Amino acid sequence: MSSPKIPFDIRKYFIFISLIVFVTEVTLGQNCRSGLPQDDTHTVYKGKCYGFNTGSKNWTAAQATCKKQNGELVEIYTEGLQTYLAGRLQKMRQFDKSGLWIGSHAKRNGSNLKWLWASGPGFKYDGLLYRRHIQAGQCLMIRADMENKWVSRGCVEVQWWFGFICQYSSGSGGDLSAGTRQTMLLSLVMFVTAWLLH
Ligand SMILES: *[C@@H]1O[C@H](CO)[C@@H](O)[C@H](O)[C@H]1NC(C)=O
Ligand SMILES: *[C@@H]1O[C@H](CO)[C@@H](O)[C@H](O)[C@H]1NC(C)=O
Repeated sequence: MSSPKIPFDIRKYFIFISLIVFVTEVTLGQNCRSGLPQDDTHTVYKGKCYGFNTGSKNWTAAQATCKKQNGELVEIYTEGLQTYLAGRLQKMRQFDKSGLWIGSHAKRNGSNLKWLWASGPGFKYDGLLYRRHIQAGQCLMIRADMENKWVSRGCVEVQWWFGFICQYSSGSGGDLSAGTRQTMLLSLVMFVTAWLLH
């Protein structure tokens, strides 16, 4: 007696479904990691997640809010990232009038004051620094209402229109959530099983 034959259509169906599930998981897996809001204000760019926040805070409080979620104020090292953030801001009406803190503050080094980013020298982008003038106690923000130029303000200042942008390292790629990984594995097993069932 020959073994029961699996109707071809069912096999095809399973292969189809498992592929769809796999592709969907890979695509949707490109999200900010779980725990962060999965909405329009949190987006992924080149493997990092960026969160746009309203809420009037001074620079230190904004930085602390990012750190509470294992992030930090955004460090803009490339023109690509600047362009991306500007494009995102343009799409979100709630930031039309906002200035959003970014992760740079004036820091004294010997007799020099420099714009210091948490993890390095940062992106030198003079064209965006609207007020060149550097002073102790000043921090940088992106002014959505001024063509996304960078402007310095007192770090302790708070205005109703202030917001901030956080960055989170675990956006996507190697940092797919456990659930995503399980579903991907399951769909692969389904695919292989269906393939082998001749
Ligand atoms: C401070 O300045 C010195 C000399 O210009 C330089 O070697 C050093 O890297 C600077 N440190 C920082 C944190 O910028
Ligand atoms: C920044 O804001 C926080 C929260 O409102 C406040 O506790 C803190 O004193 C402020 N920091 C400065 C330096 O003004």
